[in-house]
Amino acid sequence: MTANNTWTPIGTVVGNATTSEFSFILKSFKSRVGDLVAVQMEVPDEARQGKQSIYVWGRVVTINRFNPFFPYEAAQELSNEGLSLQDTILSNSRDQLEAGVLILGCTAADGNFKNLYPLTYPVQPAAEVLYPPAKAIKELLAGGIPGHTPMRIGTLIARQDVDISISVDRVVARHMAILAMTGGGKTVAARRILRELIDLGYPLLILDPHGDYLGLWQKRELFQGSTVRLLYPHIAMTEQNRHIVEILINKMTEGLTEPQREVLSECLSEVDPEEGESVLRYIKRLRDTIARKASRVSDRRKLPTLSVCRRQLGVVENRLERMELTNERMRQRLRHLKFEQMPDPQGCPEAIISPRTISILYLGGYDHLTQTTIASILLEAIYEHRANLSNRIPPFLAVIEEAHTFIPSSREGASDVPSLETIRKLITEGRKFGTGLVLISQRPSRVDETILSQCNSFLILRLVNPRDQNFVKQIMENLSEQDARMLPGFGPGQGIISGQAVRFPLLARIRMDEDLIYTDLGDENFLKQAQDWKPDPHAPVRKRVAGKIQQLSRLPDRRPKGRGTAPKHENGDSTPPEGRDQSEQSRWDKVRKVFAMDTRAIGDLEAVTGLDWDQSRRREKVASYAKLPWKKLKAQGLSSHKRSRLLQLLEAAAAFSAHNQ
Ligand SMILES: Nc1ncnc2c1ncn2[C@@H]1O[C@H](COP(=O)(O)OP(=O)(O)OP(=O)(O)O)[C@@H](O)[C@H]1O
Ligand SMILES: [Mg+2]
Repeated sequence: MTANNTWTPIGTVVGNATTSEFSFILKSFKSRVGDLVAVQMEVPDEARQGKQSIYVWGRVVTINRFNPFFPYEAAQELSNEGLSLQDTILSNSRDQLEAGVLILGCTAADGNFKNLYPLTYPVQPAAEVLYPPAKAIKELLAGGIPGHTPMRIGTLIARQDVDISISVDRVVARHMAILAMTGGGKTVAARRILRELIDLGYPLLILDPHGDYLGLWQKRELFQGSTVRLLYPHIAMTEQNRHIVEILINKMTEGLTEPQREVLSECLSEVDPEEGESVLRYIKRLRDTIARKASRVSDRRKLPTLSVCRRQLGVVENRLERMELTNERMRQRLRHLKFEQMPDPQGCPEAIISPRTISILYLGGYDHLTQTTIASILLEAIYEHRANLSNRIPPFLAVIEEAHTFIPSSREGASDVPSLETIRKLITEGRKFGTGLVLISQRPSRVDETILSQCNSFLILRLVNPRDQNFVKQIMENLSEQDARMLPGFGPGQGIISGQAVRFPLLARIRMDEDLIYTDLGDENFLKQAQDWKPDPHAPVRKRVAGKIQQLSRLPDRRPKGRGTAPKHENGDSTPPEGRDQSEQSRWDKVRKVFAMDTRAIGDLEAVTGLDWDQSRRREKVASYAKLPWKKLKAQGLSSHKRSRLLQLLEAAAAFSAHNQ
């Protein structure tokens, strides 16, 4: 293809041209900022014997508009006199558009755009600037990285007829950063990339603190042949991973001294994990073991060591317990989604990473420290499986949303974040083992600079904060001043893509996959929700039910009593404990029938009644208790207080259902 017939002339080169930029006077609005343009010129050939014809390719980065026939003084005069331009002989039709072009390189002018060379001679003043057809630009962009699989992510900002593709190979084998202020379009862009990778069957792992990707499960029918799995954090104990307890202590507390560590390892070897036991339950048992040791210890000097150990375990236990509860509550709000416990990444990595599988780990409800601890344990384990070349899991790509949480800059004063070292290792060595990363952040200046600068490709969407803009300029060597100035002006989904995944930096408009939009999550319309919001209709019922339950639990035994006033017992109740037990027993027999066939879990009853019974039994089925007579509940290890509270819970839930029928 040659320029002579099909490439439209749109302007003429003016001013000082260099080998990196030139300006041209643009013919009436024939081009926009972000457009790719070309100038044909003759340069000496390799041997410097003859001449060869080349195209110089450039990107329009600025357009200035001015009118040399309308001097500043005239403007002053007009405003002083209150005159309009039409009342004068001055012209407003002679204004000029001057476009600034950043040179990308040059190719042969014979239609073969495979090789892009640096320009060694500036373009000639007065040369014609050409507007290449979409086909030529597509060829130029496609020629970029030979042999690589392209992934379509959008179009040029200025030309919707020119698709932009990035190299799949460079994204999955290297690392990519997607940076923008909130609402800039990071998640939409990430979903676009994920969509293409899903189509290719590439194994994906997403760390999702806000549930932005949970909708992919809802839309799973769009990904025929692939499996979308929603995971919630669960660290299961096995024979081999007892050291996790120590990792958790080190990551969540100030750690242990040598003697304390000895106590811990002694206990770890004594307490065998049960099948599928959660780390939380295991830690509880460890604490009991330490308590027993402390009660029997002969050398009292050992007591402080034991008590510190127990306390540190208590800190971890409390933390995990609280977060687990919040995450569970958040998942209860998303009942229509199917969550699974996170499989053990050490013992069963293939359950997380496998071909045509997208594993989404939902971290909602966990605080930053716990999120980073879980991420660190997960990533470390699966990275090890890749690094030791055991071939248990294929190469994969991990997408990390809210990267500033997982890899905060040392300026944020959080240098001991557990995932920092893990991700540093992945980003420096991961590419040897096929563990690519996509890091996403809305506050780039809060992300660790050295880790972020190891990304080989960047997608920078709208950024308004000057600190973030400066930071991005520092870490991206090839971001021009003119491009940096555009960052605050981008609309959603518009941005600059640069680095190894593309041939040269481009202004892109990311394609939004409308069919992936899932309005319940991530893209919520809070204005509408606020306008439609109604107070919980069940709240008064709940309150009444709770009041009734309190009354019930205070009721004296109704059995006929002997004369005189019954003596008060230690709880201030006039009913003797055995009498109260019998009244509770008859209440239990009545209420348990209601729940004999109930398929819900204890946590579900807690959620509807607003009562808390026992966090550790929340996942157990209500029916498994309802089938037991009162006396057998005792054999389940339930204290009398626990039994009373269980009774109250079931009565409250029964009253609640009766009221709503
Ligand atoms: N490529 C795009 N084309 C059109 N609209 C877009 C595009 N990307 C984003 N948007 C619009 O912007 C909204 C916010 O996008 P998105 O959720 O991806 O932002 P974000 O950068 O991830 O924000 P946050 O930091 O809050 O997570 C979308 O709901 C959509 O309306
Ligand atoms: Mg987002």
